[in-house]
Amino acid sequence: MVNKTGMFRNAARNAAAAAQTEVVEADDFVLHKYADYETYRQVQEQGNKDKLTAQFVTKGHIFFLAGYLRNTLGPVDFGLCHGVRRGKEQGWFRRKLKGANVIGTDISETANRFPNTVQWDFHEVNPEWSGKADFVYSNSWDHAYDPQKAFAAWLDALRPGGMLLIDHTAGHVPDSANALDPFGVTEAGLHKILTGVLDVAGCVHEVLDRSTDEQYPGKVFVCRKNA
Ligand SMILES: C[S@@+](CC[C@H](N)C(=O)[O-])C[C@H]1O[C@@H](n2cnc3c(N)ncnc32)[C@H](O)[C@@H]1O
Repeated sequence: MVNKTGMFRNAARNAAAAAQTEVVEADDFVLHKYADYETYRQVQEQGNKDKLTAQFVTKGHIFFLAGYLRNTLGPVDFGLCHGVRRGKEQGWFRRKLKGANVIGTDISETANRFPNTVQWDFHEVNPEWSGKADFVYSNSWDHAYDPQKAFAAWLDALRPGGMLLIDHTAGHVPDSANALDPFGVTEAGLHKILTGVLDVAGCVHEVLDRSTDEQYPGKVFVCRKNA
């Protein structure tokens, strides 16, 4: 039986050995670069399998976000969660946003084992989702090889007036980046990237301070697409 620390250490060791990333460091971010896309895909899939029983975001945080969405958007019909592993977050959103269709994505083939989860690389625009989502949520953007490309694809999926909810925790900072979680950025750096991707299509609407939440401390960057 492998404990949680052992599981995480094992996953990090496997990723470092397989990925052999080149590290790019700037003032406000760190990005591990993979040799090619297939290496990225394989490393992410192996990491997913190595940590398949783990859970990062908490039910309490997702229930909080569901309440926030209901209060700010009104009724929610369709939402997307990116990088969901076992699909817990879309299950919790569904439970609170009764009647909403909330789908999760994961790059790993294991996605097919979990309800309402599709195997999909979140960097890619899915024409079936374009302009349809009331909200897009993710805590997995630190797994992006190209965060700007991923955020642009998520913005594409939003309907006019829809919201992007991006968690920023201690696991998303530059010091936390590694071969499996290739991107880490400061809060200021994330704000700058999101503002750049949104450009004239929307804005960073507000930053929710959840730093006193005992189970899941952090901030949530709420971006809004123009109505
Ligand atoms: C740190 S886990 C977080 C899982 C879940 N959100 C949670 O809170 O427990 C990151 C997940 O993102 C997935 N992932 C990594 N790169 C991805 C990509 N490009 N597209 C979709 N999913 C990806 C991984 O397979 C992994 O399951």
